[in-house]
Amino acid sequence: MRTTTGTRWTATVAVLAVAVVVLGCVDSGLAVRVEHERELLELDELCPLCKAVVLDVESSLATNATEEAIVKALGKMCGLLPLPSEKKAACEAEFEALAPLLNKSDESVLVKYTPRSICAFARLCAVPCCATPYTPEQIHISLGGSAGEMRVTWVTLMDMPAPMCKWGTVQGEYTQSAAAVSDTFPNGGWVGMIHTCVMTGLAPDARYYYTVGADAHPYWDHPNWALPKDLSFVMPPAPGALPPNATTVFVQVADMGATDASDRTLARISAMALDSALDFVLHAGDIGYADGATDLWGQFKRKISSFAAYLPYQTLRGNHEDYYDGVPFFKLFPVPAPTPGGTRSPDTVYYSFTYGHVRIIALNSEDDFGLAPSLAPGGAQHVWLEAELKAADTPAARALHPWVIVTMHRPMYCPDHSTDCDTFAPLFREAIEDLLATYHVDLHLSGHRHSYSRTTPVLHSKIMPAGAAPTYIVCGVGGSKEGTSGYPASPPPWSVFGANDFGYLHVATTASTLTTKYVDASTGGVLDSLVLTR
Ligand SMILES: [Fe+2]
Repeated sequence: MRTTTGTRWTATVAVLAVAVVVLGCVDSGLAVRVEHERELLELDELCPLCKAVVLDVESSLATNATEEAIVKALGKMCGLLPLPSEKKAACEAEFEALAPLLNKSDESVLVKYTPRSICAFARLCAVPCCATPYTPEQIHISLGGSAGEMRVTWVTLMDMPAPMCKWGTVQGEYTQSAAAVSDTFPNGGWVGMIHTCVMTGLAPDARYYYTVGADAHPYWDHPNWALPKDLSFVMPPAPGALPPNATTVFVQVADMGATDASDRTLARISAMALDSALDFVLHAGDIGYADGATDLWGQFKRKISSFAAYLPYQTLRGNHEDYYDGVPFFKLFPVPAPTPGGTRSPDTVYYSFTYGHVRIIALNSEDDFGLAPSLAPGGAQHVWLEAELKAADTPAARALHPWVIVTMHRPMYCPDHSTDCDTFAPLFREAIEDLLATYHVDLHLSGHRHSYSRTTPVLHSKIMPAGAAPTYIVCGVGGSKEGTSGYPASPPPWSVFGANDFGYLHVATTASTLTTKYVDASTGGVLDSLVLTR
């Protein structure tokens, strides 16, 4: 089978290479496509040997070998393979860069990663993103740009000329189009193209039908196209247009990955989306738990596309997005630059958006492994956050969006005695707690601890009257394979409720009330609720 595949790839590469010469012109899309096919072929040939070497290394390890010893031994595979010197050096560099993160894992490297994944770390096995060369996969939409915009992101295995999105207000009649920007990343042997297209000029509160692809591969008319024909979404209402008693509903999740437990959470979110009972989803970090194994990104993104192609899926960076310096997450889940016309990087994935009565300010708690120096006073993110909060707290802004919610992956208040709660949370409080209180933030949402916990309004660890300080909710129970974190028998006085059941936070707002419900994904039961009024 492998020989057949290799022969087919070789033939395809040869044909395409000839085509480039015959055409005698520079077609960058074609050149990238040829390069991708060469890469797939080359990695495919190296992969079996690498896997055999990894199995050999693994079998030679002592049964009580430490994780550090295991990673160090596996790193020697680069030297054991008959690679040219430049590939050997690249292999060693890739593995050395990843080794500290592999060591930090809570799960044994040998359990967590297959030989294929380990070889993919060093780019000796290919991880094709997609099942077929040109069929769009793993579609999600997101807000976060200017008013009247919706971003759509998808992947294809091969590059294609002039990828685009098309949209319109009538199903199947796509009257508008825009060019997509294409990108990729080489880490972890991943082979594919990420396309991002921004639909503009969209009217508030209107439903739009859309599709993605390229005229050279016209999936929009293909009877066997794998995607549903009715991809659509509803735009947020115009600021101030939503009647005071109308409700905006979203779900906050964190710490998921592709597990049986997260399947139950995702099934309930999908059901709400199908019932049009949900406006957007907020995923506060630790998204796909790929942890360097880039094939898991596709596995997770396929699971969420049942709803993420139909309503905004808003993401934040978590620590499990750190692998390869955050680059795969940064490219697979694009958000706007913090300032219009500014540049983006994995450390600048912070942004804000509004929907109905709610303003969401999404932070990046993960630069420098959770120490987030950019959030400290004087840091770029801190400066940006203060400007956002100040603008959000004016009477005019509050009249349009009464509720201001700040969200980030790591907690600022959590009740157990982990390093996260006793060391990191105080650092975040020192950096931004006064800002949140000064500008009357209503609610802070996070994950990272694999538990649910809710505080009173609290400032400097002192219980405050309603409205005088934010309430902090940690909801990191999306379904992580790492299990749950626990809730202490004697929590601090400001912690009023905690539990460990996998599930999600359901948030509903009108102009005068904000209601949260912590829902057990297995039973659908509400385990905790909170009502804020203003
Ligand atoms: Fe985390």
